[in-house]
Parts: sequence; structure tokens; C-alpha cells
Amino acid sequence: TGNRTFTMIKPDAVENGYIGAILDKITAAGFKIVAMKYTQLSKRDAEIFYAIHNERPFFGELVEFMTRGPIVAAILEKDNAVDDFRALIGATNPEEAAEGTIRKLYAASIGENAVHGSDSDENAAIEGAFHFSGREMY
Ligand code: CMP
Repeated sequence: TGNRTFTMIKPDAVENGYIGAILDKITAAGFKIVAMKYTQLSKRDAEIFYAIHNERPFFGELVEFMTRGPIVAAILEKDNAVDDFRALIGATNPEEAAEGTIRKLYAASIGENAVHGSDSDENAAIEGAFHFSGREMY
């Protein structure tokens, strides 16, 4: 298992003032920040980033949501990063997320679910490279 994952604090969590609380949970869980930026996705960015979902009925809603305001994008490092981060954030649907997880604490719905976490080492590398150049990783 690899040692890096990619995350976004999504527009809902930024709007609700949860950037600091979410970063606290992430660093308290032992993740180191390799790269981080405050940015906003264009429609084209979101369509490319979520291309794997482009046949899904919620694709339009997903692109609309992810572009409606700024996000925090970050690459995180820890042993077993992808799986440990998915455990920290909880299930995609916050109603199914375990107590204490980031989505249970800070997310409102399956669509507006506060944070993204890569689902594999391969996607972590692809998603990190989508947002950051090598010179932005430390
Ligand atoms: P994430 O796993 O970060 O990336 C894909 C996103 O699609 C997912 O988070 C949800 O925000 C969104 N998504 C998944 N299922 C649904 C759904 N049924 N309705 C709306 N959005 C969804």
C-alpha cells in the first residue's frame, strides 16, 4: 500500500467554516501535508476530474456543486494513506458514516459530503498530479 492520498475540502465545508476543523482532524490522525492550495475548480476542471462519473445521473449536479465556490486541495502522506484516510472521512453518504468521522461531523448529504478522498493509490497519484506540479510538493 502506498503512502500518499489526495483530498479536497469541498465547497459546502468551506462555506460552513469547517476548513480549520477538518485540517485539525487530518493532522491529528497523523497525516502530513505534502501539498496544499485554496482554489476554485472551473466547469472544465470538474468535468475532467470527475470524468469517471460522466454517465451517472448525478454528474451535472456534482459538477455544479464542485464549481460553486472555493475548495482546499491537498496531497497527504502517511503509511497506508488511501485506506486510512477513507476510514477517517467515513462513508460517501454521511447518514451511513461512522461516529466521529469527518463526513458524520461535517457533511449534510451524499452529494454535499464535505471531503473527497482518493479510492486507490493509482487515483491518488492521478488526482494529485491534476492539481499540483512537482515543485508544489514538499
Ligand atoms: P466523492 O467520492 O468524493 O466523488 C464522487 C462524488 O459523487 C461523491 O464524492 C459524491 O459527492 C457524489 N455522489 C455520489 N453519489 C451521489 C448521488 N447519489 N447523488 C449525488 N452525488 C453523489
